[in-house]
Amino acid sequence: MRVLVTGGMGYIGSHTCIQLLNAGHDPIIVDNLSNSKPLVLDRIQKITGRRPGFVLGDVCDKRFLINVLQEHKVESVIHFAGVKSVGESNSLPIKYYENNFIGSLRLIEAMQSANVTSLVFSSSATVYGDPASVPIKESFPIQPTNPYGRSKSMVEQFLQDFQHANSDWSITLLRYFNPIGAHDSGLVGEDPNGEPSNLVPYIAQVAFGKRYSLGIFGNDYDTPDGTGIRDYVHVVDLADGHLAALNKTINTPGTHVFNLGTGRGHSVLEILRAFEEHSKLKIPYSIKPRRQGDIAKCWANVADAHKILQWKATRSLATMIKDTWNWQVMNPNGYDS
Ligand code: NAD
Ligand code: UFG
Repeated sequence: MRVLVTGGMGYIGSHTCIQLLNAGHDPIIVDNLSNSKPLVLDRIQKITGRRPGFVLGDVCDKRFLINVLQEHKVESVIHFAGVKSVGESNSLPIKYYENNFIGSLRLIEAMQSANVTSLVFSSSATVYGDPASVPIKESFPIQPTNPYGRSKSMVEQFLQDFQHANSDWSITLLRYFNPIGAHDSGLVGEDPNGEPSNLVPYIAQVAFGKRYSLGIFGNDYDTPDGTGIRDYVHVVDLADGHLAALNKTINTPGTHVFNLGTGRGHSVLEILRAFEEHSKLKIPYSIKPRRQGDIAKCWANVADAHKILQWKATRSLATMIKDTWNWQVMNPNGYDS
């Protein structure tokens, strides 16, 4: 299948392109490289023996998108392009509503013009805000607590309204929990700009000696060891979830919503210990105040993804840590190494 992958040069998109190529699909990437590097294409080619199509451009540009969709005879779209930092979204809300909401709106307009009616959209567990209980089911209330989360929930709402009015379309909303890890070749992984805001890249950089110490944001949560619990899922499992969504939903008109996680939670201290065990290194840390907007516990109910997509995350926490560490050691400065 010819699949347009917006944001395909980024962390989750690049791993998804690898899995698409391995499965015999033809991905065409559209990316403005605002948070990724051209070298990703060489790395994908090295891993798969094939080079995905790549067109430099912005998803807010409707005319450009129509041209790409038509020229490449695209049959389906996976939409990753967007911005994703919760903290930054508080200070730069326009950037978030523009790239995430306007970008998605323009993409749908372009798809409509080009008569492409199948979409898989990157949403996030952040749309659930602070849930009343765990595990989180897809039917839980949508109550995001920051501009990033609201931009995602607005796109979800828009896509549902649009599909309601265009009943032949198939739209799948994938709510990711916490993607970590890297391709097991060590050639493709997460390459944060500057100081990482997420836990696992931060730990990897401390373990490698690039940063002095990990700050743990609170040890007084209502959890067994007092630190926050999240559902960490291997990025390659997540990539496979997109293939499952593509295959299962392309011929099934409707709006489909799935959590993608493992269904298990791990605390910050558990992740730290797992990293120490694998790297055989002592990772210095100190307890800091809670981070504003953080919640105590978040993990997924993944029954729908199992049942309907026949998708299940298979990689263990040990594998996620091993692959993160391998990527860090092979690429001390990310793609600039
Ligand atoms: P990423 O930043 O690594 O990848 C996003 C890609 O989109 C980058 O290559 C960037 O250059 C590109 N891009 C950004 N704005 C664009 C625009 N206007 N036009 C064209 N390209 C643009 O992020 P990621 O971690 O791979 O996340 C992919 C998607 O998944 C995002 O939509 C993100 O919100 C969502 N998501 C990520 C996480 C996570 O923890 N990584 C969790 C839940 C949801
Ligand atoms: N944490 C620390 N120190 C750090 C970074 C994080 O203690 O330096 C803690 C956090 O307090 C939290 C846990 O590690 O308890 C995980 O934090 P992350 O920043 O790695 O992940 P979040 O769960 O906060 O958010 C991530 C993405 C969001 C996405 C969400 C979906 O950043 O974009 O997962 O669940 F929406």
